[in-house]
Amino acid sequence: MTDPELNEHNLARRSRGSAFALQGSSQRGSAVTGWGLALPDTVITNDDFAQRLDTSDQWITERTGIKERRWGGTTASLGAEAARRALESAGVTADQLDLVILSTATSDQTVPATSAVIAKDLGYACGTFDLDAACAGFGYSFVVAHSMLATGLERVLVIGCDTLSGITDQQDRSTAVLFADGAAAVVLEAVPGEPCLLGWDLGVDTSAIHLLWCDKGGYIRMEGKETFRKAVRATIDSAVSALEQAKLRADDIALFVPHQANKRIIDAAADRLGIGEDRRAIVLDRTGNTSSASIPLALVDAANAGRLHDGDYVLIAGFGAGMTWASAVIRWGRP
Ligand code: UT7
Repeated sequence: MTDPELNEHNLARRSRGSAFALQGSSQRGSAVTGWGLALPDTVITNDDFAQRLDTSDQWITERTGIKERRWGGTTASLGAEAARRALESAGVTADQLDLVILSTATSDQTVPATSAVIAKDLGYACGTFDLDAACAGFGYSFVVAHSMLATGLERVLVIGCDTLSGITDQQDRSTAVLFADGAAAVVLEAVPGEPCLLGWDLGVDTSAIHLLWCDKGGYIRMEGKETFRKAVRATIDSAVSALEQAKLRADDIALFVPHQANKRIIDAAADRLGIGEDRRAIVLDRTGNTSSASIPLALVDAANAGRLHDGDYVLIAGFGAGMTWASAVIRWGRP
């Protein structure tokens, strides 16, 4: 698609009325100054499923791109571990934080919020809350964190963590092979210079609300095919919208960090956006779908692998149950 076609398409989406989107950015300087991840020790391979379900490594690899995933831990324990690593890499102590946002759909208990349990572990006493926008939650949290920096806060920690193995029906081959556990976190700080969030797009399409659902105490139920179709569309539209806000083109993006649900969704969206394989961040082959953790895991994995440099433009794009979506264009490193 050419740029005018993309714009036209995006405007058409907005006028449908089922989508709600907000855009904006603050003028205060900001940067991602630290990052970290945490994965449980237990590795579950595709062959492990093939031994007890009517499935195969070949089917899972070809239809999803997933080779293995991690199970274990709690949302509080994984979230705290990722947070500790992010703080260490930023050179920030817990008592210096002004706000902590935990993006999760799998709080360990109904109350208190899991972010309060993590506070007890890490020792921060600043404002803290859980945010649930399903698999789009990290993007939502990043935008909220950034707007809080704009109001005068100095340091905000954003954690993305989900423990989906506990809400997955392990007898259902259509979901069991997909969902897993993990966490990743970033520290956002006010710094002299330009803001690091250049454009963003948040929204929900409630015509897809029935496609992905989990009752309290129940298991995830998903209409995979239709979720797939809507996910590709939502990822493309939202990414284009965030790029427009940032006044950038897909060619300007150094790294595309999409939600890690299915390699075929990522490839379809990235192909359509014109972002080549060398500019895509992929971890789902090793992690499966970790919902709120999936985008920060891919981001941190890329940063740890030396794929990100100061000044690089990063495009994150996620979708999740609802169907919520969140995209953001971020300038990496200190301005
Ligand atoms: O982050 C949350 C958002 N979730 C997603 O984005 C997931 C989106 N959807 C998907 O990723 C894909 O739709 C799936 C991976 C869930 C399924 O792949 P698909 O290519 O869309 O398969 P399908 O649902 O059309 O099923 C094709 C066949 C069916 O058998 P029949 O009816 O043709 O006999 C399924 O029962 O594949 C069967 N199947 C499996 N076969 C072997 C479903 N799961 C499996 C499995 N192993 N694990």
